[in-house]
Amino acid sequence: MNERLKVFIETYGCQMNVSDTELVFSILTNNNIEISDSIDDADIIIFNTCSVRQHAEERVIGRINNEMSRKSRKQDLKIGVIGCMAQRLGEKLIERNKGIDFVVGTDQYRKLPEIITNLFVNPQFKKNIIINNKEMYDGLYPIHKGNFNAFATIMRGCNNFCSYCIVPYVRGRERSRDYRDIIKEVEELGKKNFKEITLLGQNVNSYNYKGLNFAELLKRVNRISSIERIRFVTSHPKDLSKEVIAIMKDSAKICEHIHLPVQSGDNKILKKMNRGYTVEHYSALVDSLRKALPGISITTDIITGFPGESEKQFQNTLDLMTKIEFDYAFTFKYSPRSGTEAANYNNQIPEEERLARLQKLISLQEKITLKKYKDQIGKIKEIYVEKVSKKSKLELSGKSRDYKITVFPGDESLIGKFVNVLITEATGWTLKGKLFDEQVKPKQHNKLCK
Ligand code: 5AD
Ligand code: SF4
Repeated sequence: MNERLKVFIETYGCQMNVSDTELVFSILTNNNIEISDSIDDADIIIFNTCSVRQHAEERVIGRINNEMSRKSRKQDLKIGVIGCMAQRLGEKLIERNKGIDFVVGTDQYRKLPEIITNLFVNPQFKKNIIINNKEMYDGLYPIHKGNFNAFATIMRGCNNFCSYCIVPYVRGRERSRDYRDIIKEVEELGKKNFKEITLLGQNVNSYNYKGLNFAELLKRVNRISSIERIRFVTSHPKDLSKEVIAIMKDSAKICEHIHLPVQSGDNKILKKMNRGYTVEHYSALVDSLRKALPGISITTDIITGFPGESEKQFQNTLDLMTKIEFDYAFTFKYSPRSGTEAANYNNQIPEEERLARLQKLISLQEKITLKKYKDQIGKIKEIYVEKVSKKSKLELSGKSRDYKITVFPGDESLIGKFVNVLITEATGWTLKGKLFDEQVKPKQHNKLCK
């Protein structure tokens, strides 16, 4: 083939998958394969998939089946599956869906160019590689597709084996990336005008590269002059240290937001989940965070209907939500994942009950979120302007340091800038306001810059 092959990637699931897609962009581009922004132009469609819940898998299978009809219109079209579902199901995916040409697991992305090229040389070629070889993708720097915010992966895999979770099985053991590579990547991002970066890992608080821990990494990233805002996900309550909270307080660029999944408000359920902390420990962490960073936004993940969860235990979760007042909660009904410990428990909660509890949780959180957002009215917030608002061309949209989407009237020329916005309204998950004065420098924040 003379023309360069074009690949379109559709990404599902968590930010780690978004980041992996950017890594795959880099692997493909380095090998003379083009990235296409349009599915219609692509020679190869790749689905980067998620296995965390059954529903996530069903959605992707539905999408893949939809796209199969393209094969009758475009004979040469190839379809591949990568990510957690590829890792989990491997060969079975190809057996169940003959239209899938290749399946590549999370640690084998370096092989993608070779596989893709072979597909076009040998029409019978089918490939499935899912071996886990503790890949760190050293020496590779992702191609970041966004504009102003970028993810930087600092670690891969997970060692926690929460009893409901498939991640440790599909992403393998936890390993931390060399901090020098992380710093280099973030410096490069800063030069490309990404002013906000999010450090990414399944459990960032246990980052450790040859003795250099997460607190030390944060200190170093905070010193990179071209970066204005630092975020990180995901924090695990059992590993979030006092040292990290102190650094969050002292580092001007670390934003006043933490995503701290609690999963349940009941100690017995937390134990069965193998989470390694109690409700009391979690509440004490929240107190320390709020003391160190007044006004910090705290978001969480919660699962309803974990096996054996009684009405009373569920009520404990509702009570904790009311007590903590999370700014936002990502809520999920428990989904049994084959191979995990909890999937074998014989006290599974019926689907309708899991759903009914989920709905209760959502409606309670909606009220709390609205209250928390209304509390912002009258405040002046620093907004990093990202784009023209979807709803009105005359309005801009961006995020506050405490991770709240904020919309206000303004000129497109402010995109990419930091502005002060006076909050006048709170609707649903969005704040509305008006420009308070011209551009501000983020360093005017009241935290010390170390
Ligand atoms: N069922 C429901 N939710 C789950 N999560 C992880 N595994 C499951 C499961 N089997 C949720 C957890 C986690 C988030 C990313 O997904 O809340 O924090
Ligand atoms: Fe899954 Fe627990 Fe690891 Fe998070 S910490 S990825 S919930 S096993």
